Amino acid sequence: MYIEREPILYLLLFLISIKCSEIKQYYVDRGKNLTIKCPLDHSDVMWVREGRENHQASRSTVLKNGSLFLETVDEEDNGLYTCSRENVVTDDKVYMKVIVRTVPPPLVNVRIFPSTILAVIVWEVNGTGGYPIMNFTAQYRLAYTDNKWIPILPNHIMPNSRQIDVYGLHPNTTYEFRVWATNQLGRGRKTNVLSTTKGVFTEEAGAEDFDTRAWAVAVGVVMGTLILLSMGMCFLLYQECRLPTDFQIRFQ
Ligand SMILES: *[C@@H]1O[C@H](CO)[C@@H](O)[C@H](O)[C@H]1NC(C)=O
Ligand SMILES: *[C@@H]1O[C@H](CO)[C@@H](O)[C@H](O)[C@H]1NC(C)=O
Ligand SMILES: *[C@@H]1O[C@H](CO)[C@@H](O)[C@H](O)[C@H]1NC(C)=O
Ligand SMILES: *[C@@H]1O[C@H](CO)[C@@H](O)[C@H](O)[C@H]1NC(C)=O
Ligand SMILES: *[C@@H]1O[C@H](CO)[C@@H](O)[C@H](O)[C@H]1NC(C)=O
Repeated sequence: MYIEREPILYLLLFLISIKCSEIKQYYVDRGKNLTIKCPLDHSDVMWVREGRENHQASRSTVLKNGSLFLETVDEEDNGLYTCSRENVVTDDKVYMKVIVRTVPPPLVNVRIFPSTILAVIVWEVNGTGGYPIMNFTAQYRLAYTDNKWIPILPNHIMPNSRQIDVYGLHPNTTYEFRVWATNQLGRGRKTNVLSTTKGVFTEEAGAEDFDTRAWAVAVGVVMGTLILLSMGMCFLLYQECRLPTDFQIRFQ
């Protein structure tokens, strides 16, 4: 009986130890203030930010009751924080993780695949910023101008999309495209890419001319073959109709 209970006891102890060493996580939106309570319940505490040269966040203050106050957080405040009693190094370290939620990071691998009058914009995401992406937005305009940006429909591209078609472009023209992601905190930074559409009289157009000529030649060849074949058939039929008579004549 004891032997059976022991493993369960160990498991419970193990779970409790995991629970105790669990890192408490603080999620906070960029631009908000954050107060982190020191679990030691002491007012004489020292806060340390791990992996920082000065071990202190820039806009942080230790409050009278020992809590740490982070003002107007940004990505820089992401990280592990610990508090301990002042001048006591024997305490177990308790870690608190601060995770700052932001607008989506810029899209990566944004590429344009242009044709003569249309183009395909393709992108990849590099994280959501902490909140799911609500939609993507893409726009374009003539390159090297201050023209108004032209929206690419639909205005709000579904969050599972990774590409969009752009229609009504002019051939042999350089355009500037930009695309970005939006989550509930707002718009991510825009990624701009230049791309030139193909000219009408490029090799492709030449290939089309060639295709037409090749087609005409092929049709001609087929028609000629058919005519020759039917002529041959007629000749053979004519021969077949005549041969027996010839033979008959010869054998008789
Ligand atoms: C953050 O704290 C500062 C100083 O206490 C205050 O002026 C500001 O209004 C606070 N911001 C928010 C978003 O609560
Ligand atoms: C510490 O004080 C701040 C205000 O000064 C308060 O917002 C916070 O709740 C306090 N924390 C504790 C653990 O009492
Ligand atoms: C993706 O985001 C990480 C930071 O979260 C950054 O270090 C990395 O450079 C980004 N990748 C690209 C391709 O920009
Ligand atoms: C797209 O995101 C914007 C946030 O800028 C939001 O207002 C809009 O409702 C979203 N559209 C769709 C279709 O989700
Ligand atoms: C594209 O336009 C440039 C001038 O902008 C011109 O020199 C070039 O010949 C054009 N190419 C084609 C294939 O139309």
